Amino acid sequence: MSLVKSKQRVADHGEVFTPPWMVEAMLDLVKGETERIDSRFLEPACGSGNFLVQILRRKLAAVELKYGKSDFEKRHFALHGLMCIYGVELLPDNIIECRDNLLEVFAEYLRIDDTDDLYRAASFVLSQNLVHGDALTMLDSSKQPITFAEWGYLGKGKFQRRDFRFDVLTHSSAFSQEGSLFAHLGKHEIFTPARTYPAATVGELAVGAAI
Ligand SMILES: C[S@@+](CC[C@H](N)C(=O)[O-])C[C@H]1O[C@@H](n2cnc3c(N)ncnc32)[C@H](O)[C@@H]1O
Repeated sequence: MSLVKSKQRVADHGEVFTPPWMVEAMLDLVKGETERIDSRFLEPACGSGNFLVQILRRKLAAVELKYGKSDFEKRHFALHGLMCIYGVELLPDNIIECRDNLLEVFAEYLRIDDTDDLYRAASFVLSQNLVHGDALTMLDSSKQPITFAEWGYLGKGKFQRRDFRFDVLTHSSAFSQEGSLFAHLGKHEIFTPARTYPAATVGELAVGAAI
């Protein structure tokens, strides 16, 4: 496996991919979280997904252990696991590869293809969660503020989405600092979603725009 695409890209963007053994060793430092289906991970320079793919594999192993016997639960909890994975990447080819790599692992595990609503729902989720943009300016490729979708699984096949701005989320620690102007405020008062959506099924997520 090559860890570098070109010398120019290393010079321009610091693009050196992390080898698999190091990814595993680093994920083991937070093993419990990587094996929890609904733990949220954000990789602000995700490349083609060397970390995110392995996180997804670990989440899917947890799904298999817990829900492997019920096809309905397995499909929905696997999607929720995927929904908890986020990334930002500057280079357009990398973000496309990253989405493709995650979708491939998800589809292989569930033995689905693009004829299945679940496949198309996963593809839509990845288009929302893996952002083509700049993690430093927190703007997407259209120069709009990056927002992330918080997905909740309500049970019985329904998912809830609320969007939050990345720049607001990153101020979380400053807000809770002792003595800060905002210390007395509850998180719910600071973290107002930019948008809240009606609950949606896999079928509705599969058509993306409908939610
Ligand atoms: C050192 S590579 C690491 C890729 C991946 N995390 C891995 O470990 O294999 C850094 C990646 O960050 C991307 N990148 C550089 N500056 C960035 C920025 N400001 N915002 C988002 N991504 C950025 C590069 O295009 C490259 O894909």
